[in-house]
Amino acid sequence: MRFLQAFSTIASFMALTEAAKHQLIIGTFSTNFLYTAEYDDEAQTLELIKTTPTNAASSWISLSHDKKNLYGTDWNAETPSFVSYSVKDASTIDYEVRVDGSSDCTGEKSIYIEASPEPPYAVYGNYFYGNAKCGTVMSVHDNGTLNSVIQSFEYADGSAVHGLSFSADKKYLYSADDGGNSLWVHGINDDGTLTFHDQLTWPDDGADPRHVVTHPNGRYVYTVLEASSQVGQCITNDLGNLYTLQQSFSLIKDGDQASDFWADEVALSANNKYLWASNRAHDPARKGYLSAFEVNEHGALMQQYFLAETTNSGGYANAVAPSPFDDGLVAITDNSTGFVEVWRMNDDKAGASVIAHLDIDDGHGCCANAVWYS
Ligand SMILES: *[C@@H]1O[C@H](CO)[C@@H](O)[C@H](O)[C@H]1NC(C)=O
Ligand SMILES: *[C@@H]1O[C@H](CO)[C@@H](O)[C@H](O)[C@H]1NC(C)=O
Repeated sequence: MRFLQAFSTIASFMALTEAAKHQLIIGTFSTNFLYTAEYDDEAQTLELIKTTPTNAASSWISLSHDKKNLYGTDWNAETPSFVSYSVKDASTIDYEVRVDGSSDCTGEKSIYIEASPEPPYAVYGNYFYGNAKCGTVMSVHDNGTLNSVIQSFEYADGSAVHGLSFSADKKYLYSADDGGNSLWVHGINDDGTLTFHDQLTWPDDGADPRHVVTHPNGRYVYTVLEASSQVGQCITNDLGNLYTLQQSFSLIKDGDQASDFWADEVALSANNKYLWASNRAHDPARKGYLSAFEVNEHGALMQQYFLAETTNSGGYANAVAPSPFDDGLVAITDNSTGFVEVWRMNDDKAGASVIAHLDIDDGHGCCANAVWYS
C-alpha cells in the first residue's frame, strides 16, 4: 500500500515535470488584435495570456521560418495590403511595417500570406473578391521584416487564390485557385520571384481547391475542395507537374448538401502521421466538421478515420492548426461566437474530442487562424 502510494506520487511528479506549456498566436477578421493563448498539456487548459492591439485585422497569419517574424493580411484595409511584426516571444509582438500590394494587384482583399522557409525567405501574398487574379511576391530585410513588392504576377481571369504550399524541395510553389477551380505550379527563382510552370484544372467542375499542402516526401499533395466539401489528392514524380488521383474523401455526411458547407483547411500533423481537414457550415445554426486521415510513409492517404461535428458552424473560420508536438492534437478557430479550442484524436482513432476551450468574444472579430509558436 505504502509502496503504491509512493509510486503514484513519483509518477505524478514525473508527469508534472514532463508537462509543458505551448503558445498559440491567433488572428482576427474584424477587430485589430492579435491574441496569445497558452495551452497547458498537463491541466489541458487554454488561457488567454496576452492581447496585442494592432492596426490590422488579419484573416490569415503566418510565422517566418525562425519564428522571429509574423506576417498577416490586412483583411479590412482600403487598399489590400500585408503587415509584418517582429516576434521576440509569443507575447511580445511588435508591428513593423505595412506593404501595399495594390499598385499592380487589384483584388479587393488580401486573404492569405505565407513565407518561404528557404533563403531569401520571400513572402507570398494572395487576394480574394473583385478582380483577384493576381499574386504578390515580397522581399524581406535581413531581420525578416517585410521589405517591398518584388513581383506581381497574374494567374488567369476568374482566378482567386486562397492557399499556397511549397514543393518538398522548395523549388516550386503550388497555388490553390478557388475561383479558377485549379492548382497552379510556379518555379521559384533564386530571388524568390516566380515563373509560370503549369496549371492543373481540377477534373470535377466547381470543386474549388481552397488550400493545399505538400507531404515532405514530395510525391503527394493534398487539397481541400471548398465547394464539393472534399479532400483531394495529387501525385507528382518531378515536383513540377501535378496529377490528380481519382480517390477523394468527403467532408460531409450522407444526406448533407455540399452547398450548405464551405470546406476550409487541410494540414499535416507534426510527424506527418495524419492529415487533418475541416469544414464549415454556412448556416450558423448548423455545425461544421473535423476529420483526420491516415497518411502512410510515402504520403498516400490510406483511410479516413472519422468525421466529427465541430462545436459550432465555424463561421468564417474552423481553421485547423495541428500542434507541432503531438500528432493527435489540433487547434481549431471559430468566429461564429469567437473561440479557439484544442481537440485530441481518441485513442481508437474513431473520433476526436474537445479538450480545451477558450472564448475570445471581442464582438465576432476573433478568431481567424491560429499558429503554434511552441
Ligand atoms: C529590421 O530591419 C529594417 C531594415 O533595416 C529596420 O527598418 C527595422 O527596424 C528592423 N527591425 C527590427 C525589429 O530590428
Ligand atoms: C466572421 O467574420 C466574417 C469576416 O469578417 C464576418 O463577415 C462574419 O460576420 C463573422 N461572423 C460572425 C458570426 O460575426
